[in-house]
Amino acid sequence: MHNITLIPGDGIGPEITDAVVEIIEKAGVLVNWDVQTAGADVAEKEGTPLPTRVVDSIKKNKVALKAPVTTPIGKGFRSVNVQLRKELDLYANVRPCKNIDGIKTRFDNVDIVMFRENTEDLYAGIERQIDDETAESIKIITKKASIRICEFAFDYALKYGRKNVTAVTKANICKLTDGLFLRCAQEVAAKYPQIEYKEILVDNLCMQLVQNPEKFDVLVLPNLYGDIVSDLGAGLIGGLGVAQGANIGENCAVFEPVHGSAPDIKGQNKANPTALLLSAIEMLKYIGENDSAQKIDFALRKTLKEGKVLTMDLGGCASTKEFKDEIIKNL
Ligand code: NAI
Repeated sequence: MHNITLIPGDGIGPEITDAVVEIIEKAGVLVNWDVQTAGADVAEKEGTPLPTRVVDSIKKNKVALKAPVTTPIGKGFRSVNVQLRKELDLYANVRPCKNIDGIKTRFDNVDIVMFRENTEDLYAGIERQIDDETAESIKIITKKASIRICEFAFDYALKYGRKNVTAVTKANICKLTDGLFLRCAQEVAAKYPQIEYKEILVDNLCMQLVQNPEKFDVLVLPNLYGDIVSDLGAGLIGGLGVAQGANIGENCAVFEPVHGSAPDIKGQNKANPTALLLSAIEMLKYIGENDSAQKIDFALRKTLKEGKVLTMDLGGCASTKEFKDEIIKNL
């Protein structure tokens, strides 16, 4: 029996969480889900969107599956997601971006893994209103955080037989901050002579990704560029509904999709649970449930490849529940 923290989130979070939990149970994995709520509703009741019980639960269980949590835009509380990553020191945000059979996209050979630094940069949240017409935000880049995310990316490249790692910055403009990130990437690259090392400016990367995504292999990026470019990556492989992610630290890991709480389709039984399910499959591998992970992965890919029962974001007309039932049938 595995003890796993489950954060159902809000928006479409609870719907896709129900679907994924049922698939995992039907695959025969024994899980004691420690359900922890977070977000705006919790803030009203408990005075904070991220009570310490959530962080404590993840520290105890070491692993969590997390659905998206809404962050108020331009006002209100600090992102629960950012806070969680910071408090648990989940420094590596891993976002694989690979074509999936059955999902038609503009490109066929996309196979990129993005490593986004998860704890600093503009996400440090150090902002100041100077007067009504001026506000500022401080971008923090440290050697410690930059070195460890680059090491994580190179270790991954070595372990999974990847050919090259590209460091992504805007070091021509942010000479001190991105310049430091770049020097750290160079320092780490020198320790991995087996892996080819490249550098690119983030604006050029965006252009090249939408023209020749097959040219890229492993990318390592500071927090903000990683956030933005990974959504671009999701677009390359069929959209946010199929883009998985994981936040990994020294002591624990939180698996969550790239997408947000999709308030526009909340409660309509339309959301695609694939991204959360792919994240859960990685979580199962992480806790050593490799056979079950493979079984679910096979059933999901069979469902997508057959293309008979697909959610609307993938051009189908199936509901979340119908899609989930088809995966269970294919298990
Ligand atoms: P979003 O990712 O929630 O939605 C963008 C578009 O993609 C929408 O049209 C939505 O319907 C669609 N979409 C997303 N996931 C889908 C799925 N599983 N199935 C089908 N369609 C899907 O991005 P948005 O609207 O910018 O953000 C909404 C909220 O989510 C914000 O409060 C944001 O802060 C939060 N958010 C939370 C994240 C997290 O919890 N890790 C990550 C990103 C955003």
